[in-house]
Amino acid sequence: MARGRRSVLVFLCAFWFQMFQRAESHGSMYEPPSRNSQGMSLLAPTCPGGACQWYNQGCAIGCPEITGLQTGCEKPVEPSLKDGEDDELLQYKDDGYGNPTIDHPWRFPGKSPVADACGITAGYIEPEGQLDPPPGFSTGASGRELPKLLDQTVWVAGSVVEVAWAMAANHGGGYQYRLCPVNEELSEECFQKTPLEFVGEDQWIQFGNGYDPGNRIQIKARRVSGKKVVPENSTWTMNPIPGCAVTGGRARTKCSKPTFSAPADDRFWPYADGTSKGIFGYSGGYCFGNVTKKPSAACTLDEYKNASFDFGIVDRVKVPDLPEGDYVLSWRWDCEMTKQIWSNCADVTIKHSGKNTKPFSPINGCTACCTGICSKCKECREKKTGECASCWEPLPWWGGRDFWTPRAKAIQCLGREAEDGGPGKYMPGDPLEPAWSPGCSKCWASKDGCEKYTREFEGVIEKKSWGSWTFVTMVVLAVAAAVAGALLLVKSRR
Ligand SMILES: *[C@@H]1O[C@H](CO)[C@@H](O)[C@H](O)[C@H]1NC(C)=O
Ligand SMILES: *[C@@H]1O[C@H](CO)[C@@H](O)[C@H](O)[C@H]1NC(C)=O
Ligand SMILES: *[C@@H]1O[C@H](CO)[C@@H](O)[C@H](O)[C@H]1NC(C)=O
Repeated sequence: MARGRRSVLVFLCAFWFQMFQRAESHGSMYEPPSRNSQGMSLLAPTCPGGACQWYNQGCAIGCPEITGLQTGCEKPVEPSLKDGEDDELLQYKDDGYGNPTIDHPWRFPGKSPVADACGITAGYIEPEGQLDPPPGFSTGASGRELPKLLDQTVWVAGSVVEVAWAMAANHGGGYQYRLCPVNEELSEECFQKTPLEFVGEDQWIQFGNGYDPGNRIQIKARRVSGKKVVPENSTWTMNPIPGCAVTGGRARTKCSKPTFSAPADDRFWPYADGTSKGIFGYSGGYCFGNVTKKPSAACTLDEYKNASFDFGIVDRVKVPDLPEGDYVLSWRWDCEMTKQIWSNCADVTIKHSGKNTKPFSPINGCTACCTGICSKCKECREKKTGECASCWEPLPWWGGRDFWTPRAKAIQCLGREAEDGGPGKYMPGDPLEPAWSPGCSKCWASKDGCEKYTREFEGVIEKKSWGSWTFVTMVVLAVAAAVAGALLLVKSRR
């Protein structure tokens, strides 16, 4: 009897999980631009080119591996972020469906396993992934195998640089940036060897669709370090944007109150429902949901535009003293509300002298056309049939599964370019038809459109370390001493 009841309960839980757990978090690193975006600008900064569909689903602290949509492992470890002690860093008692968050990734930052430190499309392989791969991919593609971005970002060892990410759906938690040499296996172990140090106590909410350093709000960062995180003594930063106090705000549920005191609460912002001041909400995720099941989850384009976060989260990090060469930067966002870890990878070249790439400077954006999802279409400009047909058809979001509300134009490799042959423009709230193009005609037309592209440089933000000043001083003194010595010598000879 007890056993029978238990299996019914297990069945019900599994059923509940299958029906409702397709929770959408979604976020992307966009400075430096990620391989996952393939240089595309559609939905930047929250999900450029579908970069926010690369993640790990079914992550629990201390479990040996990720479990996709199945329930987690039997014996997760105790959380390091404890109720009472760490309330400043926590905001969700449950996941919005009554399940406790105690073994979710943010409860012990860095402690959950991932299957791919650069993300997996739709979170895991079939049938355990969610059903939401980005345009041009099927479920279960590996982020580690994505082609390098053609756009090159240069960082000088020892300098301080700005990095940024943005969210398409807000599930709290926190994040870290890590480096691994490009020629090593891009494993979680490799990335965990070199976490980047955050610099200063502040961070910024940056507007201008995330890209305008002249339009940002400075806020105090909440950070955690020491034994509470993996790697031990590294630092994680909390996602500073509060979620919605009731069920997170998913599937168009009202978002009236923030889960903790919201930044910029001197005024109302469009992201929530206008009841409370401050920046908070669920972002565009407010408009995702199973519309077969819940028709009221379907948003108008206006609602989608309002809910979407048109800003990014900027931090300063120190570039470690590593040998010169090419590295991969992995951004890892451990969620609190869901069992999900979002990861994107970017390409960074470390040098020992010279200038840093200017953060938020434009990219040429040709990777998708030259080595990515549209590269196979190069010979299709005059041909629209056979193997070329797919190049002239929209690649829909989420495999075209119609139970999700549509939320962005489909990507179409050819035929939807802007007038100059470059990428089209689209902002949340614009009409969804016709499809958007990454601008391959322009990339292929120019002789070096598919060559490596070095982004704009800037003056190094903070190059002077005490060490280098000491060195300069010593050289100056040595030169002065030599000149004085020579003069004395000349004088005494006379
Ligand atoms: C972390 O820092 C503490 C305090 O400085 C030190 O005692 C401990 O050995 C460090 N742990 C690791 C793994 O480096
Ligand atoms: C969008 O936000 C603006 C400004 O907060 C508000 O006036 C408008 O009613 C909102 N539109 C919708 C559809 O919620
Ligand atoms: C969406 O809802 C329908 C109807 O309830 C259901 O059959 C389908 O499995 C749901 N899809 C997902 C991905 O949950």
